[in-house]
Amino acid sequence: MGHDEIREVTARLAEAGIPSPEHDAVALLAHAWGRSVAEVRHAQVMGRTPPADVRDRLTSLVDARATRVPLQHLTGVTGFRGIELAVGPGVFIPRPETEMLVDLALADVAHGGLVIDLCTGSGAIPLAIKQERPDLTVLAVELDPMAHAWAERNRDQLGLEVEIRCGAAQSAFPDLVGLVDVVVSNPPYIPVGMVPIDPEVRDHDPEVALFGGSDDGLRIPVEVAARAAELLRPEGRLVMEHADVQGDSLPRALTRQGHWADIQDHCDLTERPRALTAVRAP
Ligand SMILES: C[S@@+](CC[C@H](N)C(=O)[O-])C[C@H]1O[C@@H](n2cnc3c(N)ncnc32)[C@H](O)[C@@H]1O
Repeated sequence: MGHDEIREVTARLAEAGIPSPEHDAVALLAHAWGRSVAEVRHAQVMGRTPPADVRDRLTSLVDARATRVPLQHLTGVTGFRGIELAVGPGVFIPRPETEMLVDLALADVAHGGLVIDLCTGSGAIPLAIKQERPDLTVLAVELDPMAHAWAERNRDQLGLEVEIRCGAAQSAFPDLVGLVDVVVSNPPYIPVGMVPIDPEVRDHDPEVALFGGSDDGLRIPVEVAARAAELLRPEGRLVMEHADVQGDSLPRALTRQGHWADIQDHCDLTERPRALTAVRAP
């Protein structure tokens, strides 16, 4: 496929309001052609044209993307740190900013430690943790049966030993109360009533993955933190993602819980406050 055709697809996606049209054009062509993005770039430079059936497949993929179906639903996969996860309807697509939670969770975990992810979605966080630190015991919980099935599928495809339970984070792991070294969580935190701007999020991420259950979006995160306080051993650590507008309100809410010491907030690479860490007070 030559430069002109890629340019044509890019223009079509740009017209539909896709934020990174050239990236998506190449990713969709790679998917339609069964090749890597690097191979497509090479073919593009060489002016090599894909077979007609690939061009037909690309046309239907571009039609769907132009209606704002998420790129990851069309390719069926997304990358998260060092792993590739299957995603699609019924599960939240992991975001790049969440990768930071893995670094925060892995800081200072002793060899053989116990780590739990509450609200696991596709399983992105616990599977990345287990892949990077096979010595750790890693467990996770997810409320939504559809998302839970995606997480189990990802776990099985990656061949990682992570127990993934289906249930509410607020009452999860009664067998592990007081024993956990690190609890990590990216819970739903969007204020109820707020409408996400991007159609990919508004129309395709499950509602249960987005909304935090109150006007400020913090009801579920605060409940999850309360459960984390029960699960953690003294001096165990909580790592939790939040919205950029919750960099003061979530730390304040955790201070009110009275279980936490050393509450710190952390910025992402764009300097927006996006994650909290706290230590379980003895
Ligand atoms: C923002 S998504 C994050 C998913 C995943 N941790 C990630 O970072 O990609 C929140 C997830 O929490 C799940 N969830 C919502 N309420 C829950 C609850 N009370 N207990 C457990 N999981 C819950 C949703 O179904 C969704 O999969």
